[in-house]
Amino acid sequence: MEIKTALTYDDVLLVPKMSHIKSRSDVNTSTKLSRNISLNIPIVSSNMDTVTESKMAIAMARLGGIGIIHRFCSIEYQAKEVLRVKRHQSMIIRRPYVINPENTIKELRTKIKECGYSGFLVTDNENVELLGIITKRDYTFISDENIKVKDLMTSREKLITATNEITIDGAKEIFAKHKIEKLPIVDENFHIKGLVTKKDLVENFDDKLAVKDKNGRLLVGAAVGVNGDYMDRVDALVEAEVDIIDLDIAHGHSALEIEALKIIKAKYPNLEIMAGNIATAIAAKDLIEAGADCVKVGIGAGSICTTRITTGFGVPQLSAVMDVYPICKAYNIPMIADSGIKQPGDLVKALAAGADTVMLGGQLSGTEETPGPVINYNGRQYKISRGMASLTAALSRPGAKEDISKITPEGVEARVPYRGAVKDVIGKYIGGLRSGMSYGNAMTIKDLRDCEFVRITNSGMRESNSHDNEVL
Ligand code: XMP
Repeated sequence: MEIKTALTYDDVLLVPKMSHIKSRSDVNTSTKLSRNISLNIPIVSSNMDTVTESKMAIAMARLGGIGIIHRFCSIEYQAKEVLRVKRHQSMIIRRPYVINPENTIKELRTKIKECGYSGFLVTDNENVELLGIITKRDYTFISDENIKVKDLMTSREKLITATNEITIDGAKEIFAKHKIEKLPIVDENFHIKGLVTKKDLVENFDDKLAVKDKNGRLLVGAAVGVNGDYMDRVDALVEAEVDIIDLDIAHGHSALEIEALKIIKAKYPNLEIMAGNIATAIAAKDLIEAGADCVKVGIGAGSICTTRITTGFGVPQLSAVMDVYPICKAYNIPMIADSGIKQPGDLVKALAAGADTVMLGGQLSGTEETPGPVINYNGRQYKISRGMASLTAALSRPGAKEDISKITPEGVEARVPYRGAVKDVIGKYIGGLRSGMSYGNAMTIKDLRDCEFVRITNSGMRESNSHDNEVL
């Protein structure tokens, strides 16, 4: 039996080309995530429970990429996280949070903790008729927790409102003239049609790269599996207006995944579906023919993965990407290179090998926007990252097996240095990409594919890193 050699990012380098690019800022970093979704930067945050919930997804979409909300939580929780992203920072929030006038301040504070917002429209009939608005300035210094919302709210006679026809400039004028922060949108019967907030207008203005849907709302994806109630999860995510579903299982080239893909596509033909994870050309072909709008490549290359060690299966990531690329090209379907990216150069290599985007887990895992607290250990700050097939992740899943001895982990838990804001990490990656594109004379990400790889030895790798000095 012939045994092929498979390579990964550290085994190769890209050969520099004569460049006509005058400035790194001239290159175009936009790319396709899936058949019908484009991004402004080729980075997707991983659907791991220590990486992507709404905070990360909002940050990623504002930076021009996208976040995929993980599925290791209840359906309701995941759908709420998607809604948080869709509600964030659109010109008109179509389904604003509401509260009943009979609720107490105690109940209001619980709601604030649940949803993270501080202002609510007040209505007593299922989110239809606007009765008033309650915001921070009404309740911040109220110590009697039993006072009712109706006693503190600004009632609708005193409210400034607008109708659906409001423009961005029109809203700005109203905010300036009336010194208000929230503008309810209503129809002629005072039925609630939405809400515009001053904060969203300011932030919208700053987000030059942000990726948005046709209603001006940030893009977001969410993961689902292929077992049990996965279709209920898809229904809830579609109801929350998710932009792309990530049909994500460890071994995506499986009859179960292909069946689930067909079932979801049959019910929602226009819903974009990312399918994975895979590591071969034949897997890509099978998933694309079953309806996938993009394929996700990567088995066991992740920073917290032990699949290859536990099962003996996997393909080093660069070879997997190169093997899948001709199929993606033939079908005109984008590819995500998921896992194994340790530095910006790996991103450039993945794109040159044929990926359209990369998915980052470990590299984003210590940032401020990930779920979970910053912990102090030996005087340094860390956050926790864990494989979704690690022991603790398996134990914390809804309906987990109680008997630890029956769990065979394919991932680990890890401590990662606290890295601050995700925009700084992404900035480093996009800086490296822009520089790499200029070395490869690539004005677009697709142009990178004309670059040539050379295989390097261990001494080549040693030479590539800083050497023969003491790094400060
Ligand atoms: P990086 O290298 O960016 O990779 O941290 C993140 C990707 O790793 C995958 N993943 C796992 N793979 N066991 C695995 O074999 C696991 O427990 C596990 N958890 C996550 C996943 O594809 C993710 O995007």
